[in-house]
Amino acid sequence: MRAKLIAANWKMNGSFALIDAMQKVLSPLLDETTCEIVICPPDVLLSSLNNKVKGSRIAVGAQNVHSETSGAFTGETSAPLLQECGVQWCIVGHSERRILFGETDDFIRSKTETLLKHGIRPILCIGETLEHRESGNHEEKVIAQLVKGLSGLAVDDQKRCVLAYEPIWAIGTGKTATPEQANSMHKIIRKELESLASSEAAENMQILYGGSVNSENAKTLLSQSEIDGALVGGASLKINAFPQIVAAGS
Ligand code: 13P
Repeated sequence: MRAKLIAANWKMNGSFALIDAMQKVLSPLLDETTCEIVICPPDVLLSSLNNKVKGSRIAVGAQNVHSETSGAFTGETSAPLLQECGVQWCIVGHSERRILFGETDDFIRSKTETLLKHGIRPILCIGETLEHRESGNHEEKVIAQLVKGLSGLAVDDQKRCVLAYEPIWAIGTGKTATPEQANSMHKIIRKELESLASSEAAENMQILYGGSVNSENAKTLLSQSEIDGALVGGASLKINAFPQIVAAGS
């Protein structure tokens, strides 16, 4: 049985005040929920978040990392430093990083490798554009990202990764993939994991859905057999919506 994982991607939003507010509204849920909860704020908030949630079932996640562990990479953050800030998870390959910052599959794969070496679990994002979906190439596109993202990693390392299927046309648009569309893509991803890793890995690896998840649609999405959690953007910033999404996964 795969536990549900609900991850908040705050993107370039949030504040010290939101950490306090979110912790307050989530704390009554923590004893009863069966979900793993991860909050990924901007880097400057990581230590503060860690101080607040240390020892609770809320884990700290980063949104990005560099593949090198130190050096002249102005503006970047290394995996060892993330580790020092209490980071246990890190998003890699988000479509915003691929599109706006030109990140390639190779770069993403090397980030994944670096994270694993430093004991941080990657949340590898994969997803197709609207164009790919309309032309019927979406499965091919998503599988190519998956294969490139995990290639060459030992099966034990692949098993430490979580996948997030985020159709680009559903991100921040209010257009959610239907539960059937998401579930069917998750099935295809899991099938590919069988040959890429092993059937045991495929059975146990969590595949999250991301793209306009909110407090209204979370329950239906999370009740699909292949959907093991959600990577939530906009709604993860709302103190009256994120706890409801966590409750929907419990
Ligand atoms: P929204 O939930 O705002 O669509 O963002 C999804 C996302 O990109 C999470 O990583």
